[in-house]
Amino acid sequence: MPADQYVLDTLVVRRFIDEVRTMIAVAGSPSEACERIRPAFADLLADPDWLPPAYLEPAPESGMGGGIGQWLLYRAGDGSLSLFSLVVPPNAETPVHDHLAWGLVGLYRGTQDEEIYSRARSGLELVERRPLSPGDFYVLIPPRDDIHRVRTTSPETSVSIHLLTNDTGCVWRHAYDPATGEERPFRSGYVNVACDEAPSG
Ligand SMILES: [Fe+2]
Repeated sequence: MPADQYVLDTLVVRRFIDEVRTMIAVAGSPSEACERIRPAFADLLADPDWLPPAYLEPAPESGMGGGIGQWLLYRAGDGSLSLFSLVVPPNAETPVHDHLAWGLVGLYRGTQDEEIYSRARSGLELVERRPLSPGDFYVLIPPRDDIHRVRTTSPETSVSIHLLTNDTGCVWRHAYDPATGEERPFRSGYVNVACDEAPSG
């Protein structure tokens, strides 16, 4: 099995990932694991110093489009866990997409609207719009709330931190046309790491 990849190899990231893996190992379900991870995730979002400026930058040529940067910070060698930042410039928005894995997502900089969709008889239906400010985060356990779009609402770039139980940037998932519900294969990639450097699990 390939080794774990600490792209941002710092004590803060290593301690966080160690704690997350311990919590996942002792938890009996994804929801219990997420509950146990909440305090460490809140601490990460509240810490102004752990994420270097390079990971707060947009990326003109990104797989997400719109200059949206998806920066890998850590991923497990077996594809079972990843930590990344998602940098969305002002007025930009992601495609409507899914994740196909459970985890936690929280805001670090700027503000965002998160629009959650469900499948309807024709197309997708917008079921919730959540405004997010720094420190806000949510637990994602598919299929509930798995289809969404993120839009920056602040005049400055927004940055969210994602902890998900797959190699999210490298797995094939789905992007959706919200009007028709039509889905297409979608692989966002990471700005800073190629997908063929490790299995995508
Ligand atoms: Fe997402």
